Amino acid sequence: MNVNPHLAAMPAGYLFSEVARRVALFREAHPQKQLLKLGIGDVTLPLPACAAAAFSKAALEMATPEGFRGYPPEGGYPFLIDAILARDYAPLGVSFGRDEVFVSDGAKTDAAALQELFAPDCRIAVTDPVYPVYVDANAMAGRLGAWADGRWGRLEYLPCRAENGFVPPLPGRRADVIYLCYPNNPTGTTLTAEQLKPFVDYARENDALIIYDAAYRAYISRPGVPRSIYELEGARDVAVECCSFSKSAGFTGVRCAYTVIPEGVTGTDGPGRRVSLNRLWRRRLGSKSNGVSYPVQRAAEAAYSDEGWRQAREGVAYYMQNAGILLRELRSAGCEVYGGVDAPYLWMRTPRGMGSWAFFDFLLERAGVVGTPGAGFGPGGEGYFRLTAFHARQVAAEAAARIRGALG
Ligand code: MLT
Repeated sequence: MNVNPHLAAMPAGYLFSEVARRVALFREAHPQKQLLKLGIGDVTLPLPACAAAAFSKAALEMATPEGFRGYPPEGGYPFLIDAILARDYAPLGVSFGRDEVFVSDGAKTDAAALQELFAPDCRIAVTDPVYPVYVDANAMAGRLGAWADGRWGRLEYLPCRAENGFVPPLPGRRADVIYLCYPNNPTGTTLTAEQLKPFVDYARENDALIIYDAAYRAYISRPGVPRSIYELEGARDVAVECCSFSKSAGFTGVRCAYTVIPEGVTGTDGPGRRVSLNRLWRRRLGSKSNGVSYPVQRAAEAAYSDEGWRQAREGVAYYMQNAGILLRELRSAGCEVYGGVDAPYLWMRTPRGMGSWAFFDFLLERAGVVGTPGAGFGPGGEGYFRLTAFHARQVAAEAAARIRGALG
């Protein structure tokens, strides 16, 4: 059997696997050194108590004849979809039918799988730097051409740097699909409605699709920053939105997310007919998924109850206080740092023009601080370094002090 040549030709390991590999080697060599982990964006606070209570109650229900359930409904239980629509969209003045929301086990799963809806020759555009999953999934499907000089041949990179305020330009050549993640992973920056609007207009004018990853929307606090792309007029005809309970309610280990595919979003088939992406996605799900378990969906529903919402918001506020400490301390140490206001990520320019993997090794060895090298997020990430705020309070100040010490 021949292997998938596109997968076989992928460069190196997945970014966070490579970070974990280097950290494991360092630990082996320095077992006594206490590391501060600000690398992968994984939550550390316990689950909101009422989500955990609903989780276990639902598991026990499953052990009774009247409460037992088999396969969940394809797109998710109506009780969870209704809670999503009521909490996440109604306050924004946005409404959808139940059939337009699909519950899944993760925004990463969905963001990686959505490319199965596109033709093999679709042209893709991503911000640069970018969450690597969008790129990797398209590369594995053979859509990005050859990998050379740290770039994919057929991929259009939309550069986001300090110099352009981290606002991506529109694609220079026609793109069929544009991936946007806001609040942004990895830069921690956001777009205002005015900055996002040209993408919606572009998609409408060019028959393009926007995959909008809103996994960090719970971290937005400033007015004028859209929580959902559907706050923008016309977006419901051209955008699909991925959301997650991972970062908003501590579900990275529990696994629950959802994707909205409005009925109005269509593409063209071979003979030129318009085809509903919602219908295609449902068709794909039927063949490839058996959904998300009942206890997990009950836990997610509980995170939307008044008490669950309050508990989840407390967790978000805790992480954002960490971000505030890191931002303040690093800036007062003379570092150039972005993000960290409406997002749990800080994006730091590496000092003295150091390469981002070199800075990773430098901080690991000199400070015992683990971050993520910007170059792992795309060519535009070179010269930057990402720090997360998902840690215990004392880690924020300690990490900033250690970084300051290492930089002299
Ligand atoms: C990250 O560190 O970028 C996140 O953990 C990615 C993810 O949520 O998969």
